[in-house]
Amino acid sequence: MEQEQVNSIAQIEAAPTLEALEEMRVKALGKSGWVTAQLKSLGGMSDEERKAQGPIIHAIRTTVTTAIENRKAALEDAALEAKLAAETIDLSLPAPEQPRGTIHPVSQVMDELAEIFADMGFSVATGPEIEDDWHNFTALNMPESHPARAMHDTFYFPDKDAEGRDMLLRTHTSPVQIRSMISQGAPLRIIAPGRVYRSDSDATHTPMFHQVEGLVIDKGIHLGHLKWTLETFLKAFFEREDIVLRLRPSYFPFTEPSVEVDVGFKLEGGRRVLGGSGDAPGHGWMELLGSGMVNRKVIEYGGLDPDEWQGFAFGVGVDRLAMLKYGMDDLRAFFDGDVRWLQHYGFSPLDVPTLSAGVGAVA
Ligand code: PHE
Repeated sequence: MEQEQVNSIAQIEAAPTLEALEEMRVKALGKSGWVTAQLKSLGGMSDEERKAQGPIIHAIRTTVTTAIENRKAALEDAALEAKLAAETIDLSLPAPEQPRGTIHPVSQVMDELAEIFADMGFSVATGPEIEDDWHNFTALNMPESHPARAMHDTFYFPDKDAEGRDMLLRTHTSPVQIRSMISQGAPLRIIAPGRVYRSDSDATHTPMFHQVEGLVIDKGIHLGHLKWTLETFLKAFFEREDIVLRLRPSYFPFTEPSVEVDVGFKLEGGRRVLGGSGDAPGHGWMELLGSGMVNRKVIEYGGLDPDEWQGFAFGVGVDRLAMLKYGMDDLRAFFDGDVRWLQHYGFSPLDVPTLSAGVGAVA
């Protein structure tokens, strides 16, 4: 009896796992455990025997129970310690080698645009790249058979949508003008950056490229607001104060009047650098973007009353902006996915453009 208790306690204290300990608990205190058997034996004893044995047997039970509880606590502590040790992070490990991923210049420029225009109260709007011809053309005052449709080199899908509209890859970001007017109403101040598609391919044209659309709808908006907005944007984007713009009359079906905007450049070491007066000797003008006052018909298609609301719109090639700012000369390389090109022209993921730190991050 004595020996059984001593053995049992020694085993409990050495139990290697919680499972083994549980087995020992059942062997001692379970229904047919040896402690339980002793407790049961009290019933068959004479009063005198029970008086003598009772306290001894109860003391055994207490000793065994306490030993099990202690071992259980010790095993649980050890398990926690092991878990914590396994989860340790060694902060003295050296930092990984220079991270390999970079931000594509197009993404970088789009972030810069969002930052600059947010400061002027514009929010970012989006629309689908798979468009219908009503949003891409008709609502932009290009009815079927309008010659401008042919000029867009459109990729069409073979099937029409549920409403019987021709489906296409949007040829410009201008359909977002219509979608934003319809969904948000007026007043409105948005930019809409994104992919556009035209069946065209050479050194300066790729079948997919990027544009950013700008749209302001409010009361009493005039060309002066357009010019100021573009000037402010371009000065912030190119980070120079000597940006000069030239507005030329032009034609887009969705703006009236329409204005082509040129930016002045000068030659520095054989390279065109933006800035300068444009007309001075050695200076010149570079065509940059299309814009104009939103056509009354377009405002109507957007569900607004053109006698109450006016606005201006513009569209710029994002890839072209990136090339001008960061000095790439082949547009096709933008979309080759060549890691070496990305490592050269890409931007650090941590270098988020902000107005306060300067939107013109160094690659
Ligand atoms: N959507 C025109 C284009 O793709 C650009 C533009 C946008 C012109 C808005 C005027 C106003 O060429």
